[in-house]
Amino acid sequence: MYLDRRHVGRSRGMSLKQTKRKCAIGRLRGLHVNNPFPAGGEASENSMQGVARNFFTLAIVYAIAGMALGLHMSISQDHSQTPVHAHTMVAGWLMSAVFAFFYHLFPLARERVLAKVHFWLTAVSGIGLLVGLFFLLGGNAAVEPVVAISSMGFYAAMFLFVFIALPVVWKS
Ligand code: HEM
Repeated sequence: MYLDRRHVGRSRGMSLKQTKRKCAIGRLRGLHVNNPFPAGGEASENSMQGVARNFFTLAIVYAIAGMALGLHMSISQDHSQTPVHAHTMVAGWLMSAVFAFFYHLFPLARERVLAKVHFWLTAVSGIGLLVGLFFLLGGNAAVEPVVAISSMGFYAAMFLFVFIALPVVWKS
């Protein structure tokens, strides 16, 4: 729990227990007294909003699917889908989680329409890339254009993120 005199109104002489109680009462009243982003609006340490929540949900889906594929490879002793597993875990689970926490930390960035475009381009191209790669490695050469177009979409989404994120983190 984030406890700081600035955010929870901890008075001098107040014990940590008393401060926590004050904090809990404030939360019950909907005051978000321990909001780590007091200037950012509705964000609180306990909830993710908008694009941040979408990215985190996508990350979880990738983690479950990628680990299931990893287990399947281990059990069957057929490692031919290793690139799909590795990309699902790293380009899927890890990258989406990084995007989720970025948009959680910078609430104003996720309000932009560009952030929504970034989410949908990343999600659609990423899923196209992984599903396409799965079938390609399974011997279906006809899906190669899907993999190629999705790869470019995924790369373009990263450029979009650069455009969204760098001005935010360099803002003085
Ligand atoms: C249930 C959990 C997991 C299982 C059963 C699993 C299983 C596997 C298997 C069988 C391979 C192929 C190894 C080979 O052929 O040399 C592999 C490779 C890989 N895994 Fe996982 N994995 C799991 C979780 C993860 C996680 C959490 C990540 C990353 C966040 C990850 C990232 C990778 C990467 C990057 C490779 C490629 C390594 C290489 O080719 O050198 N895996 N995994």
